[in-house]
Amino acid sequence: MSDLAIATQDLVKVYGGTVRALDGISFHVQPGEAFGLLGPNGAGKTTTISILTTLVRVTSGRALVDGLDVTQQPEEVRRRIGLAFQISTADGELTGRENLEVEAGLQGMSRSESKSRIRELLQQMDLAPYADRAVKGYSGGMRRRLELAVGIVHQPRILFLDEPTLGLDPQGRAGFWKYLRDLRHDTGLTLLLSTHYLEEADQLCDRIAIVDHGKIVGAGTPAELKEKTGGDSVVVKPTKGEDLTVLLQAIPGVQGVTRKDGFFRVKCSRGEPLVPSIVTTCDRAGVELASVEIRKPSLDEVFLELTGRAYRGEEEPDTAGFISERMNAMHRQGRP
Ligand SMILES: Nc1ncnc2c1ncn2[C@@H]1O[C@H](COP(=O)(O)OP(=O)(O)OP(=O)(O)O)[C@@H](O)[C@H]1O
Ligand SMILES: [Mg+2]
Repeated sequence: MSDLAIATQDLVKVYGGTVRALDGISFHVQPGEAFGLLGPNGAGKTTTISILTTLVRVTSGRALVDGLDVTQQPEEVRRRIGLAFQISTADGELTGRENLEVEAGLQGMSRSESKSRIRELLQQMDLAPYADRAVKGYSGGMRRRLELAVGIVHQPRILFLDEPTLGLDPQGRAGFWKYLRDLRHDTGLTLLLSTHYLEEADQLCDRIAIVDHGKIVGAGTPAELKEKTGGDSVVVKPTKGEDLTVLLQAIPGVQGVTRKDGFFRVKCSRGEPLVPSIVTTCDRAGVELASVEIRKPSLDEVFLELTGRAYRGEEEPDTAGFISERMNAMHRQGRP
């Protein structure tokens, strides 16, 4: 277990005696691996990262980071890890360079050592032209790159990123991934990141654990997870809400039919050849269809299969809710 970059065993976290945020989480991460915790809001991602980065105490269970117990050797763990959090921690009044200088100081780096390191990082993250501007004028993408630079200023062996691209548009997100990939390529850094973007987990992670209600409901490489869904599905909705289970099950090539919220999910190896048979069969039975849709194996499908619910991690209201929550908090503090 000590050769692993991260090892967790039955992590349980209960907040305030009642909220069971983690309900027995176990996983391991090899050195150099990019491991993703994927899950919807409230799944327990931040809590897991907070325990591993020694910010929150575990209720029961054990976690080792770089072979060190997070509860018994928290200071030693902190020296070896980098962290960039879900909510921006950079000081908007300071420049990008100053933010990096503050962090380097906190990490105990000497001035001469940090000066060259900071120059290198600003170049690497394409922030050199903006290095001496106040961070409050940075774009979302620039801020996230600065957070990344702050997280690795002291050249940690393991980097924790909690929702590193939250709030970025798809283009900004894809841009950020490039910096992360280059960083991994250049340094061999171990990465543990949390995300609620399916595509982010798919694109960046060697392995993923899908977290839901404080439990890991599935884990593997993105390809392995998608294989588990065992092929395509065709999702059919009849206009009048008739029960099509028996009708659809009788069609050759159909492996199974499930029904939820007026939709019928038809499992099959390939969806394209099956669609005409479904449409014809329904037509002959006098059933009018409101929609017919082929769904290819995706993490979205994996989540549905594992939990019986559609994945709701990417809906805009989450971000909007998060922003309005922050604005309300600022109002309460008497800030605009
Ligand atoms: N300090 C706290 N006190 C009480 N409950 C908490 C606290 N922090 C988190 N929780 C609760 O624990 C559960 C897991 O929260 P956590 O923040 O770990 O989820 P998450 O997966 O990071 O969600 P999100 O995608 O919204 O960031 C939620 O039910 C949350 O409300
Ligand atoms: Mg979180």
